[in-house]
Amino acid sequence: MVIPRHLAVIMDGNGRWAKARNLTRTHGHRQGVVAVREIVSNASQLGIEYLTLYAFSSENWSRPASEVRDLMGLLRLFIKRDLATLHKQNVRVLVIGSRLGLADDILSLLEKAEDLTCQNTGLTLIIAFNYGARQEITDTFRQLAKEVEAGRLKPDEISESLISQSLYSGGIPDPDVIVRTSGEQRLSNFLLWQAAYSEFVFVDCYWPEFDMQQLELVLVEYGRRNRRFGSVEREDVELEQNAVASGG
Ligand code: FPP
Repeated sequence: MVIPRHLAVIMDGNGRWAKARNLTRTHGHRQGVVAVREIVSNASQLGIEYLTLYAFSSENWSRPASEVRDLMGLLRLFIKRDLATLHKQNVRVLVIGSRLGLADDILSLLEKAEDLTCQNTGLTLIIAFNYGARQEITDTFRQLAKEVEAGRLKPDEISESLISQSLYSGGIPDPDVIVRTSGEQRLSNFLLWQAAYSEFVFVDCYWPEFDMQQLELVLVEYGRRNRRFGSVEREDVELEQNAVASGG
């Protein structure tokens, strides 16, 4: 199995999982948290270095108020109940997304999680919360424009790597593979800049069903992919050079 350095997941299908069982959407999200715990421990065990989970998008605010409250409550509960375990597992927690609009107690919990675990050297768990990639890119451009206006940066100094470093995800390598559960095949405003060379794997199971077996299937599929980053395979370059050398 090829282990990616950075795995990112769009956890989709909590609602449909619940509906298929005549349960409420809240039940579905709660079961989604169980699957979150499982993937964190499985990813750590497999030696994955970075795991990004799309937990709440900037578009999720448009869901019914009761569901938004549920999702906020689940994040609170997750940090309160699981932070000590994450710390014991040597997991470093990072949160990407806009902090604007989040309740004060959630902000302090997120900061507490980041502060407590900042020296940990195991898996880096990146929780994308109140995250939207277009918002991230807009915030970054605004920030860089302010630097230019203040005379601290020249327009010509704006490079791809400066943009990468200035995003919420600055310092985190781009995802090698992005997984979406539930059969949907969209990026939904997730890591648009960072996904330039990511492999995409779409799996049919709903998020609450995503276990170690599903993760292993994803990794097998990832291992089959041939990542060329816009180049060609080394083998093909050698064949071409040999053909030229022999006058073919
Ligand atoms: C998509 O299912 C899932 C979400 C919008 C939220 C994901 C959140 C969790 C797994 C729980 C909270 C996470 C943490 C880290 C504590 P959906 O509701 O869109 O499902 P549907 O498309 O079937 O309706």
